Amino acid sequence: MTATTPAVHEDVSREGWMSRGLRLSRRKWTLRRLLVVSIVALVALVSFGISAASIVGLNSYLERRVDAQLISAAGRSSAGVGGPDFGFVASAEKYLSTPGLPVGTVAAIVEDDSIVKAGMIAREAGASSQVLTADQKEALLSVGIGDGAQTISLGSDLGTYRAVAFSGEFGDRVVLAISLSDVQATISQFRSVLILISVLGVLAAALASAFIVSLALRPLRRVAATATQVASLPLDRGEVSLMVRVPEEDTDPRTEVGQVGAAFNGMLGHVDAALRARQASENKVRQFVADASHELRTPLASIRGYAELTRRGGHDLPADVTHSMSRVESEAVRMTSLVEDLLLLARLDEGRELEKRPVDVTRLLVNCISDAYAAGPEHNWDLDAPEQSVSILGDEQRMHQVFANLLTNARVHTPEGTNVTVTLAVEGATAVITVADNGPGIAPAVQPVLFERFARADSSRSRIAGSTGLGLSIVRAVVEAHGGVVSVTSEPGATAFRLEFPAMLTP
Ligand SMILES: Nc1ncnc2c1ncn2[C@@H]1O[C@H](COP(=O)(O)OP(=O)(O)OP(=O)(O)O)[C@@H](O)[C@H]1O
Ligand SMILES: [Mg+2]
Repeated sequence: MTATTPAVHEDVSREGWMSRGLRLSRRKWTLRRLLVVSIVALVALVSFGISAASIVGLNSYLERRVDAQLISAAGRSSAGVGGPDFGFVASAEKYLSTPGLPVGTVAAIVEDDSIVKAGMIAREAGASSQVLTADQKEALLSVGIGDGAQTISLGSDLGTYRAVAFSGEFGDRVVLAISLSDVQATISQFRSVLILISVLGVLAAALASAFIVSLALRPLRRVAATATQVASLPLDRGEVSLMVRVPEEDTDPRTEVGQVGAAFNGMLGHVDAALRARQASENKVRQFVADASHELRTPLASIRGYAELTRRGGHDLPADVTHSMSRVESEAVRMTSLVEDLLLLARLDEGRELEKRPVDVTRLLVNCISDAYAAGPEHNWDLDAPEQSVSILGDEQRMHQVFANLLTNARVHTPEGTNVTVTLAVEGATAVITVADNGPGIAPAVQPVLFERFARADSSRSRIAGSTGLGLSIVRAVVEAHGGVVSVTSEPGATAFRLEFPAMLTP
């Protein structure tokens, strides 16, 4: 058990290391760079392989040719066709006079394991004779009869040789060696040519692959641009039409990118249809709410009217009937306001245009605060506004409703004695209205959904106050219909609603 644990650890860590490496390289490398570098590396590898194989092949071919030359010279010399006989012991020149041997060829005659005579074909006739060093002699002596052709080194001055040994005419051993310097010169020239061709090939591959890859990826970039365009569309609400599509030429299913483009268009079509269906069903619900609210207004007005009539005219009615009628009347009033709120929200959802007239916000706030004071004299109401009145373009009745809702909240959801401060300011081209109180604050659980319909902190207090949870959703809908934004910050002792509207700048 314990013996296997380290191995498992090692595997896991190696895997982690590899995947981390892959992730890193994937993050850094674009597809274009990856393809170009891979192609260049592949071309470089193939060029290197071909060059190495060609050099080895040429080298062995040239060596075989030298060997053939050696063996033929050896055969002819031992057959006695070499040239003039120089006496009882043959001179080295006899073996060098075989026609066709190249300059630099060395012949050595060996007797009793020592070289007795040696010669070399000089570049120019009568050139000073070469004296063999001990190392060179040893190298020549190392070649035995029957060993075949061997490569030996005759020091830095003579270089590398192919040598063969055979029996001379007088029973002596003759070593004949042909220089490989020509072979080496040919190989080195060939290598230079190969290097040049490889470098040019790699450069050409880099340029061509960069060009071809960017050409091939261009449609992919267009698909990405379409995706980006779709991503920037506001799809979360309202009438949505998803008309953006990948261009026709990038949807050819015979190419990979075309398949991506076609699939993307298919997906966009599907999403478009789903969004339309969602919108249609939303419209139906909205229409239903609007129609129902509208239809409820008339019977509610009748109920209210009859209840009021009965209450006023029925002096001889029993007290409990009078009380019940007044309850019917007050509930009918509450229900009317709820129905009005629902109707307003349904109309704002439809995107129905609001009235657009200059509204003096300063005056409106003064009125709203005095109403609030009348309703809640136990709270401390305060307005902080600039000297010059501030106006915005909008619907005065709806704006009034927004401020009234916020001030009612500040009154209803806070205990008596709470300070409520309304601030009006102009920041650049924006009118900013803040309604702040030092009440207990809004429960953190409600804050994220505060502006949604029927959102309330589930306290008995709000139930008793008869709240519906529509007040703040109306605030947001009206503010947004005016091109403004609403936000809230709340903690115990500091709750602030901030409204921003485009201000009408007075010249
Ligand atoms: N100033 C505030 N202080 C504390 N809680 C608040 C404040 N304003 C709003 N809230 C909380 O936010 C909830 C939602 O407010 P909203 O005005 O939407 O509904 P409501 O006041 O409950 O009902 P409605 O306004 O429709 O009669 C309230 O129920 C209350 O819990
Ligand atoms: Mg409210």
